[in-house]
Amino acid sequence: MQLFVDTANLDEIREAAEMGVISGVTTNPTLLAKNGSGDVESVIKEICQLVPGSVSMECVSEDAKGMVTEGRKFAQWGENVYVKVPFTVEGVKATRVFTDEGIRTNVTLVFSANQALLAANAGATYISSFVGRVDDIGYDGINIIEQIVSLRDMHDFDSHVLAASIRHPLHVVQSAEAGADIATIPFKVLKQMYYHPLTEKGVAAFKADWEKLQGSCATTV
Ligand code: G3P
Repeated sequence: MQLFVDTANLDEIREAAEMGVISGVTTNPTLLAKNGSGDVESVIKEICQLVPGSVSMECVSEDAKGMVTEGRKFAQWGENVYVKVPFTVEGVKATRVFTDEGIRTNVTLVFSANQALLAANAGATYISSFVGRVDDIGYDGINIIEQIVSLRDMHDFDSHVLAASIRHPLHVVQSAEAGADIATIPFKVLKQMYYHPLTEKGVAAFKADWEKLQGSCATTV
């Protein structure tokens, strides 16, 4: 499973890129708004330089015609830009147009296997199924990932399943176990993935023992 970072914050993306584990970036209007820069084109172009893999930029038009106009523009911003399309009737129509034009897409705000089947039939490159928001209302977001992966494999769709709306490190493991191709992870959660108290304890113990050894060598000189 590939790991993407889910943020539009350039400092977070720089730090994540240096970690050596990130293959792409997803943004959305909320993340771009948090970032605060109104010059979205420059932000996305900078992200494309920081991370050579897929960079998702989301359409905000509500009709297919408007989304297609936006997406064609976004695709010009970088060869690794994927056009993110919200899962609506109009968004799926736009996805079909992008597919036919060879523009890669990330169909987002998917919450059911039915929606994923429709997105896959429109040729979606990525299908972003939201885990956390489903869990937030008391249902099982990971189960939907499992369903989508199973149907994708059963019917040999080309779409990649992207686990989104990740709330904690366990969601990442569960998404991998469910067969997701990608998980897009908030920077805070990415950092949490590294932490284990026994690792911290073990590193400190190795350091202390090494320093003790160095000290004993020094005294025997
Ligand atoms: O990529 C989608 C993701 O940003 C949504 O996450 O936490 O708003 O459900 P969240």
